[in-house]
Amino acid sequence: MSQLVVEKVVKHYRQGDRDVAALNGVSLDVAAGAFMAIMGASGSGKSTLLHLMAGLTKCDEGIVKVNGENLGAMNDRQLTLFRRRSIGLVFQSFNLIPTLTAEENVALPLMLDGVSVQETKAKVDELLETLGLQKRRTHRPDAMSGGEQQRVAIGRALVTNPAVLLADEPTGNLDSVNSRSVCELLRDLSAMRNMTIVMVTHEPTVAAFAHEVAVLKDGMLVERFATQETGDHQGLAMRYQECLR
Ligand SMILES: Nc1ncnc2c1ncn2[C@@H]1O[C@H](COP(=O)(O)OP(=O)(O)OP(=O)(O)O)[C@@H](O)[C@H]1O
Ligand SMILES: [Mg+2]
Repeated sequence: MSQLVVEKVVKHYRQGDRDVAALNGVSLDVAAGAFMAIMGASGSGKSTLLHLMAGLTKCDEGIVKVNGENLGAMNDRQLTLFRRRSIGLVFQSFNLIPTLTAEENVALPLMLDGVSVQETKAKVDELLETLGLQKRRTHRPDAMSGGEQQRVAIGRALVTNPAVLLADEPTGNLDSVNSRSVCELLRDLSAMRNMTIVMVTHEPTVAAFAHEVAVLKDGMLVERFATQETGDHQGLAMRYQECLR
């Protein structure tokens, strides 16, 4: 079953008196349990596509469906609820609350949703263990490594049990060791929880953790392939470079 369906999506932005076509008729479906990397040069429309899937922005033309639900048909209230309950979002810049500890940051979406203290504690405990963060639970963001902070952000994204995890360059601010630990976590979440994951990245070494790669160029989908076909990250890098030519 396709959990995410994007059909002939067009999105333009105005920049002063200039019209920018960020997405120019993109169609893409993501199966339940798939782990997809979206690659493409800067400005190719990757973040725009991810934001449309998250219901953060609306498309000018076309359809975006998550779990069979058409986001374009929802009003603002429905979209807000949908985002809170069905989508986990992770950004390059962690976006943690600096005054809250790791466990408080993870718990935040449940507290905002009025979930009981007991239920929240049980969920947060389980997640911190999955994320390997038990020893950091009372640490504030400035007392954690970049990789740990990103794992907290992933925990916060997952605490509501969303159907889909969307990540925009989640390793973009990390060194190679921390980047690897975050990639391994995403791969494990995909394998063990059957999470549907869509991750934007420039890095072939990061994309190689996914099952599939979709490549955007100038707001269009130019290629889609299974990472199995390309072997290691060097094979993937070559295939990616070919797409951009
Ligand atoms: N809010 C906005 N207002 C105006 N133009 C925008 C806006 N967001 C994106 N754009 C434009 O749309 C195009 C696609 O942007 P997008 O952010 O999706 O690219 P990207 O592939 O994520 O790039 P990067 O790798 O640099 O993050 C770019 O030309 C960008 O300048
Ligand atoms: Mg971007």
